[in-house]
Amino acid sequence: MNSIGKFLKSLRCSFLNESEDFFLKHIDKSKLPAHVAIIMDGNGRWAKKRGFSRIVGHKVGTETVRKVVKIAAELGVRYLTLYAFSVENWQRPKGEISALMDLFEEMLNKEIDELNKNDVRIMFIGSLSELSHGLQASINNASKRTAKNTGLTLTIGINYGGRTEIVDCMKQIAREIEEKRLSSREIDEKIITKNLYMSGIPDPDLLIRTSGEYRVSNFLLWEIAYSEIWITSVLWPDFKRKDFLKAIYDFQRRKRRFGGLEED
Ligand code: FPP
Repeated sequence: MNSIGKFLKSLRCSFLNESEDFFLKHIDKSKLPAHVAIIMDGNGRWAKKRGFSRIVGHKVGTETVRKVVKIAAELGVRYLTLYAFSVENWQRPKGEISALMDLFEEMLNKEIDELNKNDVRIMFIGSLSELSHGLQASINNASKRTAKNTGLTLTIGINYGGRTEIVDCMKQIAREIEEKRLSSREIDEKIITKNLYMSGIPDPDLLIRTSGEYRVSNFLLWEIAYSEIWITSVLWPDFKRKDFLKAIYDFQRRKRRFGGLEED
């Protein structure tokens, strides 16, 4: 690379204040990340800063979910996975948990027609049988109604834990061995991937986390082995279409080596 090239590379961060149009114009649609996963964080802090209850933050957060699903579908991202409620989130106050569960149910029932109309396929990952019957019914209805859609696949993690997913996967493999449908010698990465919750869906290329925390919080532990990570200090309720585009623009400027060497 010549010195002008190096200088231009050093200016890579100058795109931070560009407009939505800039990103739309400069994102290469033929090189989109196939799968974007998001840790939506910061609802509580957003609300606290404004003197509201944390629940208000979650409600405003649902608006961001709508915006992000829309822009992801418009762009042509194939898979979008959102972390809505972790297995650890049961430690929160009862009032917040039940408000969140009500919000999930309400949102699913309200948005299902629009999502279906836009060809979005909705899937869920997590220990879903531990959720209320009402929420499970909304989940089943949303999954069934959209199962044949061929546009964006939107996967929502509710009562999801990365370690729990790996434990469930191990149990499934052990069952297959017990039933003599598999031999222990056959266990490899493919067999493990096949027994995870999102079997058939490629691993996330890009993992976005809002609110400036530098951790993966038990999200898709196996699947994010080679994901590019993009962290923003923006709190989830403030996350805009432009932020999503910015993450993709930045992703397209990274060199993914998957442990190998960069090509000249
Ligand atoms: C993290 O913020 C956010 C959550 C635990 C819930 C996310 C849920 C939504 C945005 C609602 C709807 C989502 C769907 C997909 C139906 P936090 O409470 O941890 O914020 P804090 O770190 O500032 O306390």
